[in-house]
Amino acid sequence: MMTARTEDGSAVAEVPDPPGPSDPSGPSGPSGLSGSWVDVGLTPMRRRHLRSVLRIESHAGHRGWSLGLFMSELAIQTGRRYLVAKVDGTVVGFAGMLFIGSDGHVTTIAVHPDWRGRQIGTRLMLQLTREAIERGMTAITLEVRAGNEPAQALYRRFGYAPAGIRPDYYRETGEDALVMWAHDVDSAGYQARLAAIEADLARPDADHPGVALDHPDARGDRP
Ligand SMILES: CC(C)(COP(=O)(O)OP(=O)(O)OC[C@H]1O[C@@H](n2cnc3c(N)ncnc32)[C@H](O)[C@@H]1OP(=O)(O)O)[C@@H](O)C(=O)NCCC(=O)NCCS
Repeated sequence: MMTARTEDGSAVAEVPDPPGPSDPSGPSGPSGLSGSWVDVGLTPMRRRHLRSVLRIESHAGHRGWSLGLFMSELAIQTGRRYLVAKVDGTVVGFAGMLFIGSDGHVTTIAVHPDWRGRQIGTRLMLQLTREAIERGMTAITLEVRAGNEPAQALYRRFGYAPAGIRPDYYRETGEDALVMWAHDVDSAGYQARLAAIEADLARPDADHPGVALDHPDARGDRP
């Protein structure tokens, strides 16, 4: 089992290129972990994580956020929450949300390609959603590329439904954005949905190799 490290203030190594699916480099890489558990730590995103974050962003398949945009988001002390997911001290994913009134807005989420399909995106969404509810949000929205089926599947799992299209939203490709909303996230029914998602995470199977959440409470140093 790999062990996630707590946030200790030390510099975080940039994301290495983990072994690919056919790389027989043993248990320290994703390929060696099929069916086993890795511990994923969720921790607040800091400036020292941004090199790794940008590297993951560069794999996202579209023109992503710039360093300046991430820095300006992190500089905003209220109404924002950005998390990174780490495995063995390495940043493997990140996500963020902003809060306006009673609405949350998922601003970004990405997982390094070699770590996708291991429920890390789900864990990031689960944590951000729980924090949104604690902050009094009653609905959460996001935009997603119309053709981004993996992301839309993830969002549907969290109860997001399509609410409209923003044409040509992504300027570099002219792709439309699908606007999705999850309503009544403060309801008992939605709590039950989150609990079911969390219960699934605790039951890894062949399709969902396990990742344990080492530090479920990443709220210790909330801005
Ligand atoms: C979207 C993304 C963050 C998902 O992260 P992830 O850690 O791989 O997601 P999970 O393992 O938690 O998967 C959760 C669900 O997403 C869906 N999903 C994930 N990968 C998928 C794929 N390749 N094809 C179809 N559905 C997929 C499934 O519904 C999955 O649930 P399941 O495993 O029970 O079937 C990841 O694919 C990514 O980084 N993509 C590039 C960046 C991006 O598109 N971000 C979204 C911008 S709006």
